[in-house]
Amino acid sequence: MCGIIGVAGAHDALGVLLGGLERLEYRGYDSAGVALVAPDGVLWRRRSAERATSLVHLEAALPDAPAGSTSGIGHTRWATHGAPTVANAHPHLDCTGHLALVHNGIIENHRALMAELVERGHAFTSETDSEVLVHLVEEARAAGADLAEALRTILDRVHGDFAVAVVAADQPDLLVAARRTSPLVFGHGAGVAVLASDVAAVLGTAEALHALGDDEVLALRPGRFSVTDLAGRPVAPRPLEVRYGLEAARKGGFDDFMSKEMAEQPHAVADTLLGRLDPATGATDLEELALGRDQLAGVERVVFVACGSSYHASLVGRQAVEAWAHLPAEAEVASEFRYRDAVVGPEVLVVAVSQSGESADTLHALREARRRGARAITVTNVVDSLMAREADGVLYTRAGPEIGVASTKCHLAQLAILEVLALHLARARDALSPATAGELAGALAGVPAAIEQALGRAAQVAAVADRFGGAEHFYFLGRRAGLPLAMEGALKLKELAYVRAEAYPAGEMKHGPIALIEPGSVVVAMATRGPLWDKVAANIAEMRARGATIVAVCDDGDEETAAIADAVLEVPPLPELLVPLAAAVPLQRFAYEVARRRGHDVDRPRNLAKVVTVE
Ligand code: M6R
Repeated sequence: MCGIIGVAGAHDALGVLLGGLERLEYRGYDSAGVALVAPDGVLWRRRSAERATSLVHLEAALPDAPAGSTSGIGHTRWATHGAPTVANAHPHLDCTGHLALVHNGIIENHRALMAELVERGHAFTSETDSEVLVHLVEEARAAGADLAEALRTILDRVHGDFAVAVVAADQPDLLVAARRTSPLVFGHGAGVAVLASDVAAVLGTAEALHALGDDEVLALRPGRFSVTDLAGRPVAPRPLEVRYGLEAARKGGFDDFMSKEMAEQPHAVADTLLGRLDPATGATDLEELALGRDQLAGVERVVFVACGSSYHASLVGRQAVEAWAHLPAEAEVASEFRYRDAVVGPEVLVVAVSQSGESADTLHALREARRRGARAITVTNVVDSLMAREADGVLYTRAGPEIGVASTKCHLAQLAILEVLALHLARARDALSPATAGELAGALAGVPAAIEQALGRAAQVAAVADRFGGAEHFYFLGRRAGLPLAMEGALKLKELAYVRAEAYPAGEMKHGPIALIEPGSVVVAMATRGPLWDKVAANIAEMRARGATIVAVCDDGDEETAAIADAVLEVPPLPELLVPLAAAVPLQRFAYEVARRRGHDVDRPRNLAKVVTVE
């Protein structure tokens, strides 16, 4: 969703801003803009709202940028209040044109603030909630406050979530920023100071990064900074550990980020498992959870909350907790959990699963669970993200930055860490024999190699996409761990190829949806070998009898399954609950191939944002 970048002290401020905006594009946006502090002490601003290509259009509008500007701010906007128009794009200016401001988040009381400001003579030029902020800063400055003080004094009056950055025409080397809930990082590079809402935007520019905390105000200049709380007391900023470099946020020779990220999956899973699992003994090490064996042994129920692909990973995690730790477990879509009267208390371990650590639905579910007294941990890929900070413990996946909107390597890394968590719980409760735990750990350690093999079958997937990719309706069917896998396959096809794809429990089709099956329907069946293979085979027969074309996801060389299908997507055999780790690979690839054949942008599917910070 929205993204912020700011720079001070650069030889080429515009270049830094555009580079940062380009690396913020993946979050999803519909308009973009920059403001530079020109050497003559004038603010220069350009914005664009050309659908999906704002950045290109923005760049085209820049040849008249003032030479020699060393500082400025930039923004990518994902519209909430007000349509995606140039007038609503950030940066917003105050009435004097001396201040420019960018904002991520939502100002809940903007209507009341705007009414007051209009009464006092301010003129608004946008329909956004954000614009009130720049007028409030303008008033505080007019009353004699310096820029940081001005921002500090207005924040008490603002309700909602925000990350905000301001520049003033008369202070060319100063960036002032603040945040509440929405993330903001800052740091210094060779002679420059930068800030951004996302680490990826400043990779390669800043050497050491810090995270700004809630209700903290930053005054940032080249070579120095100060952070204060809302009372003006100095605060020590938290250094941020970044485990990857600029290359990780580039395509690196691949056609698109999705291809790169699918190819990185063996590493993402291997890194996520590293040091956390002993394949010889089945021992697990999740020290970072900050929950000891006694606390874990006291857990009576586990509740996973998540959205989208993270929810599908949670459904597998739930099955692993039940099967291995013998604990009651549930997985729920976070946006539903939050508004249900969920019965959770101190005996419940809530696991919030989120690649970004920022999804508003999951964040609020996490908060609600903690409010009700549950112990809550976060599984996330983003170090120091909101959910990482707000939980009682955190387990990081180590997939590196995922730029493509469709989750691939992060989904597999989530599956891996959730299975380790299930094993960890099982061991804390002595629910598994050492021999069984060792076997499972050994199988998990072999997963990166299995993913590598699954990636090697790209030609088989492409052939299936050639034959069946033109269909208009797909049904993804599975049982047990095959069901979340089916749901993930269907989600990928929907979000990338814009094709109707329904995921259903294979055994449930006969209770209604089978009425939809007719010649031309394509059924993708999760038919790897496991205790329920016979049942799945019977369900496949039911679909075939009604004219459906069957694509079976099956074990390598499984001729019996191949004989009951029209085409197969083969994966290396794995124990049943580990199957989604390898079998998601051909389903991702299938969606990718179908999307490409239909001419879609696989990295930035329509209507979607990578980080969904609205409810
Ligand atoms: O960052 P999160 O894991 O919380 O995001 C959740 C979903 O928005 C996300 O998984 C979404 O469904 C992906 N686009 C799926 O590919």
